[in-house]
Amino acid sequence: VRVGAIVAAAGRGERLGADVAKALVSVGGEPLVVHACRSLRAAGVSVVVVAAPPALVGTIAELVPDADVVAGGDTRVASVRCGLAALPDDVDTVLVHDAARGLMPVEVIRAVVSAVQAGADAVVPVLPVADTVKEVDATGRVLRTVARDALRAVQTPQGFRRDVLAAAHKTASASASAAEAEAEATDDAALVEASGRTVVTVPGSPYGMKVTTAFDLAIVEALLEQRVSR
Ligand code: CTP
Ligand code: MG
Repeated sequence: VRVGAIVAAAGRGERLGADVAKALVSVGGEPLVVHACRSLRAAGVSVVVVAAPPALVGTIAELVPDADVVAGGDTRVASVRCGLAALPDDVDTVLVHDAARGLMPVEVIRAVVSAVQAGADAVVPVLPVADTVKEVDATGRVLRTVARDALRAVQTPQGFRRDVLAAAHKTASASASAAEAEAEATDDAALVEASGRTVVTVPGSPYGMKVTTAFDLAIVEALLEQRVSR
């Protein structure tokens, strides 16, 4: 049983607004993509494929010499599909991870792999939602309050039986509204849900937060400093 991982690193990082691609932004002196790949390897993942911005394939290949680096696509879904195509045939458990989550602890990654290997089709690490969440209309007027107990914030790596993930991506790309589905799907589990399969959860970690804005980057930088000096 071989475990492979696809690291989605081809985004532009527009909300972060750094002068380099987000995957190359350093925390604790090393690029986010290096942190992400290292945790996956430390968790026992045997093959890592990184989907990089096309112009940075060479640069990223030098930073992560034990990963296979391929060009990603225009959407996250397209990037993951590029990664899937590059996975060796003998990989049967696939993790899909955001390069932007450089600090996800090894224990969470292992728990995701274990749940797939214990028989789950798809597994996502989750955290409870701390804030009260309300649904609003286009003008910002509150429509309703959503029961918080049943809500979870979803992280990566998300784990899948390879055939389940491949089929979900295939269905998504073949559907009538494929372009919209791809533009909107911000995680792979959503495609698996749409394909009618069951997705289960394991506890995530606050360290697995995604760097989206400059504020997030400052938090991750501080967390890393604290972890190193602990
Ligand atoms: N991603 C990708 N290919 C894309 C878009 C996103 O591989 N075409 C990856 C990003 O590199 C990131 C992850 O998906 O690791 C989560 O996406 P997000 O946080 O939205 O990153 P960006 O798209 O880079 O940021 P932004 O949306 O602010 O431009
Ligand atoms: Mg994005």
